[in-house]
Amino acid sequence: MTCKQFAVIGNPIEQSRSPELHHAFAAKMGIELQYHKRFAELDAFEDSVRSFFAEGGMGMNVTVPFKERAFVMCDERTTRANIAKAVNTLYMQDGKLVGDNTDGQGLVAAIQALGWNLNKAKVLIIGAGGATRGVIYPLAQAGVIQIDIANRTLSRAEQLVDDLVTEVPNCTLKACTLEAMSGHYDIVINATSASLSGDALVLPDSLNFNYAYEMAYGKVSSFLEQAKLRGAQSAEGFGMLVGQAIESFRIWNGVEPVLTDFLSLE
Ligand code: ATR
Repeated sequence: MTCKQFAVIGNPIEQSRSPELHHAFAAKMGIELQYHKRFAELDAFEDSVRSFFAEGGMGMNVTVPFKERAFVMCDERTTRANIAKAVNTLYMQDGKLVGDNTDGQGLVAAIQALGWNLNKAKVLIIGAGGATRGVIYPLAQAGVIQIDIANRTLSRAEQLVDDLVTEVPNCTLKACTLEAMSGHYDIVINATSASLSGDALVLPDSLNFNYAYEMAYGKVSSFLEQAKLRGAQSAEGFGMLVGQAIESFRIWNGVEPVLTDFLSLE
């Protein structure tokens, strides 16, 4: 093997932008590495991960639909991976497979790069799936003092609050329905998959906010259109994608590329 080997594993995997991002980081930082896409059949994920590391692979990113299985198969996990119950970053340490989750830090870094203040911020997250679970702890670590979680299915938001309330002692967590979203927030984050399916989210008139972040990217989002109509500043998820990739790169290579250097790759 000539240089450090990395990969992103998923099913499907063709759409992944990770190799392009990691090669761009490597070029900028003067590091020689190869980063490949790795397709895994649904019944072959764990074997594929094991053989990658057995062959000397340094680090692996994990994407849909394997993040929960990556979490299960690890020997050790970071705190943020344990709270997310999902792993997107794998590496070997002292013969053990370690799992981390950099998605939440990716969102935090993207928001901070926009100049939006998270310290003492009040945040509304729409959606209560895996994407929301992964960002609550990193947002609280970044200084957010209130996170309200609004979801179509209220019980899922309530469950998330129950699960995570003790993990973020300095941040208040509350659950509500989409119809009950109201009042003023510093930042509203769309973590639903509604924009991916082309469905429109309807924001009630009584909901106000300064900033809007759409986790999806590359799609027209009714959420962002409504945010713009309200005069809110807005951004979509490419920065988060770059941010999570930078955090994985930092863990593996010990150096941290600057997020704003790579936003033009979108
Ligand atoms: P992910 O891992 O990306 O978060 P997920 O766990 O399937 O994916 O969660 C998708 C989220 O988008 C959920 O909060 C879902 O709401 P429900 O829990 O009520 O299913 C939300 N969602 C998906 N389509 C939606 C739509 N058309 N309108 C509102 N919420 C939607």
